[in-house]
Amino acid sequence: MKRTKIKDLLNATSFGTEVRIMGWVKTFRNNQFIAINDGSSLQNIQAVVDFNHFDEALLKRLTTGASVDIQGQLVESLGKGQRVEAKVNTLKILGDSDAEKFPLQPKKHSLEFLREIAHLRFRTNTFNAVFKVRHALAYAIHQFFNSKGFTYIHTPIITGSDAEGAGEMFRVTTLDFDNVPRTESGEVNFKEDFFGKPTNLTVSGQLEGELAAMALGDIYTFGPTFRAENSNTTRHLAEFWMIEPEMAFYDLNDNMDLAEDLLKYVIKYALDNCSDELEFLKNRLLDEEKQKPQNERSELDLISKLNFCLDNAFERLTYTEAIDILKSSKPNQKKQFKYLIEGWGADLQSEHERYLVEKHFKKPVILTNYPADIKAFYMRQNEPDAEGRRTVRAMDILFPGIGEIVGGSQREERLEKLLQRMEEMHVPAQELNWYLDTRRFGSAPHAGFGLGFERLVLFVTGMTNIRDVIPFPRTPKNAEF
Ligand code: 4AD
Ligand code: MG
Repeated sequence: MKRTKIKDLLNATSFGTEVRIMGWVKTFRNNQFIAINDGSSLQNIQAVVDFNHFDEALLKRLTTGASVDIQGQLVESLGKGQRVEAKVNTLKILGDSDAEKFPLQPKKHSLEFLREIAHLRFRTNTFNAVFKVRHALAYAIHQFFNSKGFTYIHTPIITGSDAEGAGEMFRVTTLDFDNVPRTESGEVNFKEDFFGKPTNLTVSGQLEGELAAMALGDIYTFGPTFRAENSNTTRHLAEFWMIEPEMAFYDLNDNMDLAEDLLKYVIKYALDNCSDELEFLKNRLLDEEKQKPQNERSELDLISKLNFCLDNAFERLTYTEAIDILKSSKPNQKKQFKYLIEGWGADLQSEHERYLVEKHFKKPVILTNYPADIKAFYMRQNEPDAEGRRTVRAMDILFPGIGEIVGGSQREERLEKLLQRMEEMHVPAQELNWYLDTRRFGSAPHAGFGLGFERLVLFVTGMTNIRDVIPFPRTPKNAEF
């Protein structure tokens, strides 16, 4: 007999028919009621056993975490909170789960504890919901770009250039550490390494993405990226996934419009397609926030927050305007910021970003035209302003509770300007000759951005630590599983 997924059974009306259920035992109560989950739904199905007809020893094995294969009759449930249940006819244990040793018991576990047993945390309702939402967001991202005629490009994970400047890189090598080949002058001889030169894990697919955009028009990448920064925060991972669209003939405004559309599209998709999961996560967050003082709790619950984000245009302003707001803000005046804003040119820290978003505008914000000196070499240079200040056509999108979720720019398409900037920033032009060719042959205005996928999942699920929205987080001193 074929198995039916629990999600389908919970919606079924074919009462009286025989069904087959496979799943894991969540709880077994009163020697009678088994709550079973197979991952297809957050909800369990209840299977009722008549203990008179089953071997005592077999029923003892119905422990939390055990997997079972059940056949029985689908019946209307008399119990509260469920519409259907199954009356068990045959019961087989597929895999035992020793109740003494299984670390997940039917009670609330802390997220910190669950992080230590990340191989088992999929089995909790919270992580079931988080990873369902993560999947839906990934799917919606592809759907969005596909519907707009974008081409999905797989940019390399191992790269031979280390010039993006986005962060520290992880070296990729097959050299023998105990016997490193040296050149005559004593340096490591990378000619003997696997690729015959130094290579790293990519920090971004952008530069290769630009090459593709200069022929295919509108492209995007969606893949893992790596940063060896020693940032132990709730928003940084050493391995994270990034969505990077790159569009020919787009200027900074087109770029911002696309990014705002994308964010709203995928958030709406999650609201429309993950209502059970989001409802669960909303309640989880309300529960968690009960332990916080009133003034630290969110003003909106998770679902209201997501809807609010859909219903309001993101606030767009320049870096210079933002600095003015921050300079005269209360926390700056009262010296409550860790990094005080003294004047133009300062890099914004997450405390400043969050002030703008959460306290000042109370909605997502797009900051544009940052000082050239705090941004990457490839961003398009603006004419210096009346005071001689140099800015670039950058845009960062800042989200409540998250800070920077998107970073992007219009690109410098003028070869001379680009070369001059690379020299100023000590970016080796020789190594990036292939990149510069796009500016030599049919250069065209273009723009793009990077959306940090885990930061998006963090926002939509209302989780508070980025380690809890990727199955197996990689952070400094941690690469378990
Ligand atoms: O601002 P970033 O560094 O931009 C780039 O890499 C550009 N090449 C993107 C582009 O224009 N194509 O990173 C983009 C986004 C950030 O806004 C943030 O959401 C996320 O990637 N991000 C991280 N997410 C998790 N952990 C980290 N360590 C991250 N660093 C950046
Ligand atoms: Mg950035």
